[in-house]
Amino acid sequence: MSPKPRVLVTRELPPAVMEFLQASFELTVNPHDGPMPREELLKALPGHAGLLPLLVDKIDAELLDAAGGSLGIVANYAVGYNNIDLDEATKRGVAVSNTPDVLTDSTADLALALMLAVARRMVEADGLTRPGRFPGWGPMFMLGTDLHHKTLGLIGMGRIGRAVARRGRGFDMRVLYHQRNRLDPERERRLAVEYRDLEHLLAESDFISLHIPLTPDTRRMIGQRELGLMKPSAYLINTARGEVVDETALVRALQTGAIAGAGLDVYENEPELHPGLVKLSNTVLIPHLGSATLETRTNMGLVAARNLRAFLLEGRRPPNCLNPQVLDQK
Ligand code: DGY
Repeated sequence: MSPKPRVLVTRELPPAVMEFLQASFELTVNPHDGPMPREELLKALPGHAGLLPLLVDKIDAELLDAAGGSLGIVANYAVGYNNIDLDEATKRGVAVSNTPDVLTDSTADLALALMLAVARRMVEADGLTRPGRFPGWGPMFMLGTDLHHKTLGLIGMGRIGRAVARRGRGFDMRVLYHQRNRLDPERERRLAVEYRDLEHLLAESDFISLHIPLTPDTRRMIGQRELGLMKPSAYLINTARGEVVDETALVRALQTGAIAGAGLDVYENEPELHPGLVKLSNTVLIPHLGSATLETRTNMGLVAARNLRAFLLEGRRPPNCLNPQVLDQK
């Protein structure tokens, strides 16, 4: 029997994923209960045929060189792959895969949860109720803003954007969207969404939710100008990547009342927070939890494992390969 291919996993994953991986591969697993230190990763990687990294692991030219010639596939444990230099991987003939689909609904649920939490002041209200400061029902006590029948503006209409659109319709919201390539009219009709250019979407929406990948084009796409186009009563929701928003401009907009509030799952310099953000009561801040359910994190791991297995054991194209051209080079 030929030896199992060696795979390096940069952080312990849910038990069902570890069992699946152990059955197929000879595993090296980061022993720490935390991100794998870069130096350790560079040292441990040579000799492995597969790498299963997290979005916090930077997969760049230095790391790919350190891996030596043995590395055939990087199976990212995320749908976003801005942590990976895809061109450098492709140049070296290393296949790269991600985990689309399985986290769509969990992330969309969380975007709606953030909208409700910030507009209905749920975190503020919990902070008041828990220590016994509930003064009794009052007609003007802790008034928030309705979500239902408002206008939802989606920037990015990929899988997650579409899942948020469906949820928005469940709240009787009017749904606008913007993305680089407009959908065909039949698709727009089926999704019950209306296209707007960015400026009009920003100006018309009550809730703006970001669902774009981080690329050189989208970095800091929402800055002072864009925030200035939003209604003072509008909310910004970000479950995509922190770097698509200029956080300093956002803090200023929240401080000055240029916008009403923000629900954020992601930050420009994770895990650090902009010091201005934490002082604001019109924000709900959660720590990158879009896909954080046991079901979804397990499914993400199984998708990554299936990509590794397809490539390393079955000699076929990984189902979620991002650079299939490397397979033609082989
Ligand atoms: C992703 O997959 O890109 C999320 O940000 C983490 O699940």
